[in-house]
Amino acid sequence: MTRLGDVPDFELERFFDRFEFDLPYQMGSSDPETLPLAELLELADPAQRRRWDGLRLGYRTAAGDPDLRAAIAALYPGRSAENVLVAVGAAEALLLSFAAGLTPGDRAVALAPAYQSLHEMPRAMGAELELVPVERDGDAWRFPFERLMEALRPGVAMLVLNTPHNPTGVAAAADQLAAIVARCDSAGIRVVSDEVYRGLEWSLETPPSVTGLSDRAVAVGVTSKVYGLAGLRIGWLVTGDRALRARAMAIKDYTTLCAAGPSEVLATIAVRAHATLRDRTRDRCEANMRRLDAFAAARPDLVAWHRPAAATIAVARIAGPLLARHGGDPEAVLAHWRDAAGVVVAPGPAFGCRPDQFRLGFGRADLPAALDALAAAG
Ligand SMILES: Cc1ncc(COP(=O)(O)O)c(C=O)c1O
Repeated sequence: MTRLGDVPDFELERFFDRFEFDLPYQMGSSDPETLPLAELLELADPAQRRRWDGLRLGYRTAAGDPDLRAAIAALYPGRSAENVLVAVGAAEALLLSFAAGLTPGDRAVALAPAYQSLHEMPRAMGAELELVPVERDGDAWRFPFERLMEALRPGVAMLVLNTPHNPTGVAAAADQLAAIVARCDSAGIRVVSDEVYRGLEWSLETPPSVTGLSDRAVAVGVTSKVYGLAGLRIGWLVTGDRALRARAMAIKDYTTLCAAGPSEVLATIAVRAHATLRDRTRDRCEANMRRLDAFAAARPDLVAWHRPAAATIAVARIAGPLLARHGGDPEAVLAHWRDAAGVVVAPGPAFGCRPDQFRLGFGRADLPAALDALAAAG
């Protein structure tokens, strides 16, 4: 158990702090191509446009703008605005879910590797984590359904799920998810599912959200990934558990109190245009995955990559010949890519992966230029 005050560095964020904003090609990022404010406003109907133009900049309601909550609820069949709590990013929605759903000494199950908050925030709330490894078959990854089911025993308080999964892009299929949630319900385990990449599935149908499968489950979403609107910092949790939502809201009074008004109005426009923005991201990711397939086939001396089942990211590997040219030192290869090509990828160890593995994001418009730069750098 760690204290919130002693939480370890968020390794990926510390890494991005050094390289995210100064180098031309971000090929390690999970947030796909964004869009200019003017383009988002073109998706607004006249009433929303008037709301934006007349927006007053005072405090906002703690639960989140009612129009935004209603728009979010419409994405979750059977849920209404009263089931939604708006937060500042998925980052805050996760923190609130863990703070409200865990007590010190609780046992929780989580996947590994992971987006670091999904391990450190439950630990900071006093939970002991049992980690279930995502399965690897060569360079391909597989959702560890059987191992996860075995770990879901009575006595576990929470399952911290992330599907589709960062960084591997594995995802639970609808029947697997239904079985997991049913097992959790019968064993008294609360499911908190980070669903920030839901809607970006490539080799399976989009499964229902966990909040549609269980009243106790908590689903976390955000505008950052599916819509490419990370700068809005708008996330949410959706749950049928009114007591948990009330507890999360009570904690939120001490964290951010309310979200930023301009972001709430812009997020309402985005969530109402869900299919348009999602399909924009999907089209770009699919085109970029085809480019990555071609690149990996043409340059097996540089990179080994396998298409993920879902999400905007995958774990790729530095190919043996390139690694050998850099004395077997993966960090030297990543530094070479930054220095010679201006390309940033996220180091595997930031997620608990091996040093010769790295996270590759494929949602950005400049991916073709980044691949050209990598090929030229050799
Ligand atoms: C799995 C996962 N959860 C949560 C987040 C946090 O999202 P945000 O930064 O938009 O709050 C991220 C961001 O990368 C993520 O990948």
